[in-house]
Amino acid sequence: MARLKVAVLISGRGSNLQALIDAAAAPNYPAEISLVLSNNPEAQGLARAAAAGIPHRAIAHPSREAFAEAADAALREAGIGFVALAGYMRLLDSAFVAAWRDRLVNIHPSLLPAFPGLHAQRQALEAGVRFAGCTVHFVRDAVDTGPIIAQAVVPVLAGDDEAALADRILMAEHRIYPLSVRLYAEGRLAIAGGRVAIAGAVAPGGLLLNPTNSEAAASVGPLASGGG
Ligand code: GAR
Repeated sequence: MARLKVAVLISGRGSNLQALIDAAAAPNYPAEISLVLSNNPEAQGLARAAAAGIPHRAIAHPSREAFAEAADAALREAGIGFVALAGYMRLLDSAFVAAWRDRLVNIHPSLLPAFPGLHAQRQALEAGVRFAGCTVHFVRDAVDTGPIIAQAVVPVLAGDDEAALADRILMAEHRIYPLSVRLYAEGRLAIAGGRVAIAGAVAPGGLLLNPTNSEAAASVGPLASGGG
């Protein structure tokens, strides 16, 4: 079967792009990364695309509309079926979001709807949450909103600074982004009423506790050590 042609939009480092490139290298992965676009000509991710032999282009237009028009043309010319934002740090033009509706996803370093916008990891630390994480979601007009495909949870540890937490979340991002693209490419996602149903998905069991120690575990009973 033909693999889904995916474009990735980036602004910088491109480690999520790399995770998608690495996943797509497996012969049984149902999608290929066919195009990489950046609004920033200096983005490190462009070099990753080059190293993988993937067509890539910087579109450094000052206006949101001009970027969207050029990006849309490039996507259509390349026969792209699905667009993944991976550290794309500008707002997208709403006409672009409408044109690619339900074929456009984003990854964000928080458990949305908590902590949308910039510095999500810093927001999590400032709020004192015990768990943080990341979310892959279909893109809607308002920033960091849209039907959620996948989330991963990581603990916030005593002594974490923003960089340490961001690194821990990033490791989880590199797992859920390839998973989410796979689920889409396999035709297993259905959006209804602002929510995503996933055919064949199994929810994990068990209870996550943070902090955990023997006293905390004992006080909540057997579920704490069950893990499913
Ligand atoms: C990632 O943590 C991604 O979730 C975040 O930027 C980083 C990009 O890293 N995106 C956002 O904050 C978007 N709201 P990468 O360039 O190495 O993939």
